[in-house]
Amino acid sequence: MTQRTSDYPIEKQFLERWSPRAFSDRPVTETQVLTVLEAARWAPSASNLQPWRFFYGVRGEPEFDTLLSLLVPFNEGWAKNAGALIFIASVTSFDGQRQNITNSFDAGSAFMSLSLQAHSMGMVAHGMAGIEYDKVPVVLRLPDNLKLDAAVAIGYQGETSSLPEGLQAREAPSGRLPLAETAFKGHFTGEIKLPA
Ligand SMILES: Cc1cc2nc3c(=O)[nH]c(=O)nc-3n(C[C@H](O)[C@H](O)[C@H](O)COP(=O)(O)O)c2cc1C
Repeated sequence: MTQRTSDYPIEKQFLERWSPRAFSDRPVTETQVLTVLEAARWAPSASNLQPWRFFYGVRGEPEFDTLLSLLVPFNEGWAKNAGALIFIASVTSFDGQRQNITNSFDAGSAFMSLSLQAHSMGMVAHGMAGIEYDKVPVVLRLPDNLKLDAAVAIGYQGETSSLPEGLQAREAPSGRLPLAETAFKGHFTGEIKLPA
């Protein structure tokens, strides 16, 4: 699929944003990374606890290589060309007793905010859960109540031809389930299926 359309009129950023894997060698500055994180900072969160914590590295600097080494080999293969990597962790408990059950939900809001900010700056953002999670707490020095949610590669989109052949065919905006399969007036009436 290359042309995305919506059944109801929405802001074009929601259709235009997607997750390419091909990055150009155009650098991303630390200020640009901090700008997308500024957008993430303003995400909503339960009780305004702001449980997200971000770790970033800019390509060409040692922090980038450290974060890259935490990705599974599949992601490492293409994300090495990103302009910057961002890891998003979130706080699961603030006082050792009260669980913060919305930590990942809130971190997800921050992810979408930074993705749309990157889009508005002419960049792309690609989320990743393909991470060697067991290595993360030691390398990022995370306390027990700070759990890694996901990683994000950001940068300027590159040529599809720069990707290995297997990934070139997948380098296109994807579709979505019909709204009727995910939105219910009142109670659930559907059946849970894996999207095709
Ligand atoms: C939490 C999360 C984890 C993801 N993990 C990976 C990943 O490890 N590797 C990858 O190539 N893409 C990953 N993706 C990208 C998704 O496959 C992609 O967002 C999805 O197919 C929808 O496509 P779009 O973002 O282009 O609209 C991830 C996305 C999210 C939100």
